Amino acid sequence: MNYAFEQKVKMVCGWDGLEQLPVLLQDEGYRKPLVVCDQVARQIGLLGRVEKLLADAGLEAVVFDQVQPDPPAPLIDAGAALCRENACDCVVAVGGGSTIDTAKGINLLRFNEGKILDYARGKASQPFHGLISIPTTAGTGSELSNGMIVTDPDSAQKMALMAYGDYAILDPALTATMPASLTVNTGLDVFSHAFEAYTSTLSNPMADAVCEKVMAEVFRWLPAAKADETDRTARQRMAVASSLGGWMLSNACAHVGHSLAHVLGAKFHLPHGLVCSYTLPVTMETIAPAAPEKVKAVGEILGVKFTGDESAAEIGEQTANAYRVPGWAAGWQGGDLPAGRGQHPAAGGRGGRRSFRAPDPRTGGCRPGCADASPHSLSLLLLLNVRRPEWRRPVPA
Ligand SMILES: NC(=O)c1ccc[n+]([C@@H]2O[C@H](COP(=O)([O-])OP(=O)(O)OC[C@H]3O[C@@H](n4cnc5c(N)ncnc54)[C@H](O)[C@@H]3O)[C@@H](O)[C@H]2O)c1
Ligand SMILES: [Fe+2]
Repeated sequence: MNYAFEQKVKMVCGWDGLEQLPVLLQDEGYRKPLVVCDQVARQIGLLGRVEKLLADAGLEAVVFDQVQPDPPAPLIDAGAALCRENACDCVVAVGGGSTIDTAKGINLLRFNEGKILDYARGKASQPFHGLISIPTTAGTGSELSNGMIVTDPDSAQKMALMAYGDYAILDPALTATMPASLTVNTGLDVFSHAFEAYTSTLSNPMADAVCEKVMAEVFRWLPAAKADETDRTARQRMAVASSLGGWMLSNACAHVGHSLAHVLGAKFHLPHGLVCSYTLPVTMETIAPAAPEKVKAVGEILGVKFTGDESAAEIGEQTANAYRVPGWAAGWQGGDLPAGRGQHPAAGGRGGRRSFRAPDPRTGGCRPGCADASPHSLSLLLLLNVRRPEWRRPVPA
C-alpha cells in the first residue's frame, strides 16, 4: 500500500530536559516567550522554575497561567490577546494536554486573525510556528500530534483542528508529581491512541509497528508508574510511549473510541483519559468484525491466549475483557461512569447529540478515511456496556 509517514517536531529528551529550554530558545533566536500553564503548575513550583531558568538566561517572559482542563475557546482567545499585546515571539507550553492545546491555539492566532472557533469550524489558516511543548502528563502526546482539541462552551462540543508544534522537550521527571489517578487516566489515553491508530483505516505498516510497541509498553509500565511515582524507568517508558502515541495520531488518527470520549467528555466533564478507557472496550468489540487480526494482536499484547477457533466477535469480547480485568484499565477506575457536572443518561439526565470528527490535515475537516461514529447511538450503547457487572469489580488494593 502507499502511505506517507512523517515526524515534524524536533525533540530534546532527557532527565532535567527542562533545563534545555533557554538554550533551545536562544539557539532559535527567540527573545520573548509567552509561557502557557495552569494554576497547578504555579502551585507545584514548576512555573517558578521555568521563570527562573528564563530570567537567568536574560529572556523576558510573559505568563498566561489561566489554562483549564478541556480548554474552552474564549480562554484561548484571551491568551492570544495577551500574546499579541506583549508582542511575544514564541509560545512555551508547560503542562498536560489541555495546556499544550491551549498553547497551540494561541500560537495559531499569533499568525491568524479572528477567534479559535473560526478555525475549528474550518476557516483556512496561514502557517504558524514558534511553539515549544513541554508535557507534564504521559497521556495525550499532543507535543507530537497534529491536532488540538477546543471546547465550545455554548454547544458543549469538543472540536478538533490541525495544529502542530515545532519543538518538544520530553523530561519524564516532570510527570512524577502526577497523583496515581492522573497517572492512570493519562496512561490509558496513550493506550487508546495506539489502539485506535492501529485499527484506523489510515493505519499503515510503519504506524502499526509503533502502535504495537506503544500498547505493549503501556501494558508493561503503567502499573509500575501508578504504583510508584519515583520509578524512573516506568516514568521514562510512559513518557516515551505517550509521545509516540501522539505521533501515531498524526499518522493514522483516532476513531470511534475518541469520538465517543469527546461526546461524553464535553457533556459530563470527565477526565479525557478516563473516559477514553470507558469507551475503548466497546470500541474493541464493535470493530473486531472489521479488523479481527488486529484486535487479536491487541488481545495477545494484553495476555489473551487464543485457541485459533474464535469468531471475530469472540476475539473482540476476549480482548475487551482482558482490557477490563482488575488491576488493569477499567478495574482501576472502580466501575460505572461517575456523574460529572452534567448528568449522564444512566443517572437520569438527558443524553445530548454531540459530534467529534478527526481532522483532515489539509482542510481541518473530517478525514475521509477515518472511522466516524454516530455519537448519540454509540453513546447509549456505551452507557449500556459500562453498566455490565464486570465493570463493577472491586478495585484491587
Ligand atoms: N492534541 C491532542 O493530540 C490531544 C490528544 C488527546 C487528548 N487531548 C486533550 O488533552 C486534554 C487532556 O489532557 P491531559 O490528560 O494531559 O490532562 P490536563 O492537561 O487536562 O490536566 C489534568 C489535570 O492534571 C494536572 N496536571 C498536569 N500535569 C501534572 C503534573 N505533572 N503533576 C500534577 N498535576 C498535573 C493539571 O493541572 C490538570 O489539573 C483534553 O482536553 C483532551 O481532549 C489532546
Ligand atoms: Fe486521547
